[in-house]
Amino acid sequence: MKLRLLFLSAGLAACTAWLTAQQGKQGPAPVAPTPATPMPWAYPTSAPAPPAAPNNDPTLHRVPNSTKGLTAKQTTDGFNPPDWHDDHPPMPDIVGHGRAPDIRACGFCHLPNGQGKPENSSLAGLPAEYIEAQVTAYRTGNRKSAEPNMGPPENMRKLSLVSNEAEVRIAAAYFSKLTYKPWIKVVETKTVPKTYVFTGMLVPIKDTSEPIGQRIIEVPDDFERTELRDSQSPFTAYVPIGAVKKGEALATKASAKTIQCAICHGEGLKGLGNVPFLAGRSPSYIVRQMHDIKSGVRRGGYSPLMKAVVEKLTVEDMVNIAAYTASLKP
Ligand code: HEC
Ligand code: HEC
Repeated sequence: MKLRLLFLSAGLAACTAWLTAQQGKQGPAPVAPTPATPMPWAYPTSAPAPPAAPNNDPTLHRVPNSTKGLTAKQTTDGFNPPDWHDDHPPMPDIVGHGRAPDIRACGFCHLPNGQGKPENSSLAGLPAEYIEAQVTAYRTGNRKSAEPNMGPPENMRKLSLVSNEAEVRIAAAYFSKLTYKPWIKVVETKTVPKTYVFTGMLVPIKDTSEPIGQRIIEVPDDFERTELRDSQSPFTAYVPIGAVKKGEALATKASAKTIQCAICHGEGLKGLGNVPFLAGRSPSYIVRQMHDIKSGVRRGGYSPLMKAVVEKLTVEDMVNIAAYTASLKP
């Protein structure tokens, strides 16, 4: 056994050496997500790709309920992201354009109407002070990813390091005035389509199926529209059978396992003072946050208040609770 282990580690060392040599030749090799995470589905991470050549295809793309036609280049411009629907007040510069070359527009990832996506976060309707405190937490290293090589929190952390307080205050004021709209359908199921990660998103593979297990598989209803950054194209969150009821019991009944959410997050989990609302928000995002808080890497702002809430929760509990919170009307 020992000998086999020895061979294995020698093999790994050789592999690493080979990879390093290849990297020298071809730029960074794709880094596979850390397999150790109990829930890779909550940390969708794309392998880093070399910068793509600009797509100058003049074809105009369109989405429903918009009169605009935009080229591929226009739909992927981080400093001038597509604004298909004009369903929001005028965006301040930092939200609509960012600050080249360091900061891509907040609206590029969080969308101009602040609805966000599973791999980032909805910002619409969050308290301005809360938004500012969170960016500070990323900046000061008090909000990180429990899974070191895994995307979402790391992406926002990098961005926070180059942002300044004045521009974050402007962005926070903008997003806090928006109203978050329900757009995630929660569906209990035994099986889900197999998925792969593309630009931080779980994408279903046609005509495939696998058991859901203790997971939430949150996918765009129309991958192409979401990829075009259509801020009105909804999502479906597949959750295990019975998850919503079990989550409701954990979230609303007194127990030794956790603390009733409404005490701090308000009635219907619609938020209370500076405590963020949870109702109707992306369940994979919610699980990611509970896991990061439980792991101690998200510890900024008022998150110490959450410690006792998540301490005893298993992955299954978190899945059930998030299925419940996502099923509530925001
Ligand atoms: C490149 C994409 C990207 C851009 C641009 C971006 N963000 Fe984020 N943001 C993310 C990701 C990814 C997360 C989720 C991180 C996590 O899971 O902790 C996030 C999370 C957040 C959160 C936490 C929300 C919560 O409920 O706690 C805030 C606040 C935030 N971003 C503010 C901003 C502001 C303000 C800007 C513009 C100055 C901005 N972001 C620009 C990717 C981005
Ligand atoms: C004792 C008060 C308290 C209770 C009880 C509580 N929370 Fe929280 N929760 C907070 C505070 C305060 C924050 C904001 C943390 C920060 O500033 O980073 C928060 C943040 C969160 C976040 C992160 C939201 C975001 O936008 O990133 C999630 C998810 C969450 N709570 C889930 C829950 C759930 C689920 C329950 C019930 C099982 C619950 N909380 C019970 C106080 C509480």
